[in-house]
Amino acid sequence: MSHLKRYITTPIYYVNDRPHIGHVYTTTICDVWARFQRLAGHDVFFLTGTDEHGQKVEQSAEARGVTPQALADENSAEFRRIMGMFDLTNDEFIRTTDPRHEQQVQSLVKRLMDSGDVYLGTFEGWYDPGQEEYYTETKAREVEFKSPISGKPLERATEENYYFKLSAYQDRLEKMFKDHPGIVRPDARRNEVLGRLREGLLDVPISRTNFAWGIGVPGAPEHVIYVWIDALFNYITALGLADSDSEWYSDRSEYWPAGMQVIGKEILWFHAVIWPALLMALGLPLPECIYAHSFWISEGQKMSKSLGNFIDLEQLQDYMETYGSDALRYFLATQGPLGATDSDFSRSQFHETYTTDLVNTLGNCASRTSAMIGKYCEGACPEDTGECAGGGVEWSDFTAAQVEASIAAMEKFDLSGSIAAAMSIVRQVDAFINDTAPFKLAKDPDSAPMVGNILYRCAEAIRIATCLLEATLPDRVQQLRTAWHLGEASGDLRGECVWGRLEPGTTIEKVALFPRVETS
Ligand code: MSP
Repeated sequence: MSHLKRYITTPIYYVNDRPHIGHVYTTTICDVWARFQRLAGHDVFFLTGTDEHGQKVEQSAEARGVTPQALADENSAEFRRIMGMFDLTNDEFIRTTDPRHEQQVQSLVKRLMDSGDVYLGTFEGWYDPGQEEYYTETKAREVEFKSPISGKPLERATEENYYFKLSAYQDRLEKMFKDHPGIVRPDARRNEVLGRLREGLLDVPISRTNFAWGIGVPGAPEHVIYVWIDALFNYITALGLADSDSEWYSDRSEYWPAGMQVIGKEILWFHAVIWPALLMALGLPLPECIYAHSFWISEGQKMSKSLGNFIDLEQLQDYMETYGSDALRYFLATQGPLGATDSDFSRSQFHETYTTDLVNTLGNCASRTSAMIGKYCEGACPEDTGECAGGGVEWSDFTAAQVEASIAAMEKFDLSGSIAAAMSIVRQVDAFINDTAPFKLAKDPDSAPMVGNILYRCAEAIRIATCLLEATLPDRVQQLRTAWHLGEASGDLRGECVWGRLEPGTTIEKVALFPRVETS
């Protein structure tokens, strides 16, 4: 990635659902990336928000006897609340009912009408009312004319609609995938899109007349803009791209194109095909990467409302209270479904990851090191005079290589790879303590300089590892920074990770970062 300004987006979440693990997951992994980029000195804009229009919201509101706006307000507030609850550092929380968004969507659609990319036409096709989506003849046959989501029969529907001329973008989309194969990742997902692209593209209806809860088509208010078009535009309306007089535009327009647009695999088609085609039609640059992650399943089973096994907010809160918010972030980032396979969210796996990596490895190394510095060096960081028996580690080279690996992995949105590189430094410290046994050497007063050398290396390696882990474990790394008097992050991650930055003489207090949790 070449931009200094880095824009990352999550999907905007439907307000007709309660927040659950899926929403928390996507937003958390984006938060890790956003924090990492900020620590590396980049100017980041991190967007999330809620998708509030459409027939489903209208129907849910009607069922509850409230207005769609009231329902949207209530549920959007709930999503906004979770951003605070999980300490997610989004720079904006966009709502599609925000007049600043609505007005820009209308002007974007108007531009597409003027350029001929949107036209009025008649459509007949197979419609899935639950998903508010039309299927092609092939796809409808493939799913046996039943909704793959709800199992209810697809309906034959005729409508006069406004259409987006998606078919006109077939060649340009194919070329896009050829020239920028990394635009949709992981590879398995890109190949899936390519397969479907080869079947040929149909124009997409982008307006509806059978309900009212949405943004009116300019000049034809009986038509409501299809919720997906309305929603996709959030990524650019939040930057004010369709209103050059706005504050959003003056403050944010330079964040486009996005560096990373993260979505779940179920909404790939809209993001990998329709979204780039809309951008091409508007003459806007394309995002660098659309990353479609896979799904969390729960204790080995697909999560579904009917099974009632969604990992909901209450459960996530329970994990946070028991293990701490950093533990939840660590689990989501390292064990989650980045890549093409689904991941299982199980209590035992959560516990094991926490205990192995955070308690026994990172927590233990930091507490052993600080305890020994307390005991043998009066709590002051010793000096590294160069002489060091055993261990056989070229610390400066070794850490430099891990720092580069960690940064490179994060660039590719390989969160677990980035974290693994940092953790390998901590594991090396663990092995180094065991090999060099400073606690034995300390029995001989003549070995004091050697003990100091060893402990300097341990503390310095832990400091570097935690700089790399700070985006994932912000709370506990802050705790370590305070106890070890390391100051705040400087915004120059690479510079901070250079070996030898730890000043001898610094007060190193004892830390207990990750308390052991007993399973019930
Ligand atoms: N409103 C649309 C997106 C519009 S974006 C222009 C939407 N909203 S949603 O509320 O259904 O959220 C979908 C997103 O939630 C997924 O893309 C994914 O990021 C997340 N998840 C929902 N369930 C999930 C799992 N079981 N596992 C992981 N993430 C999943 O679609």
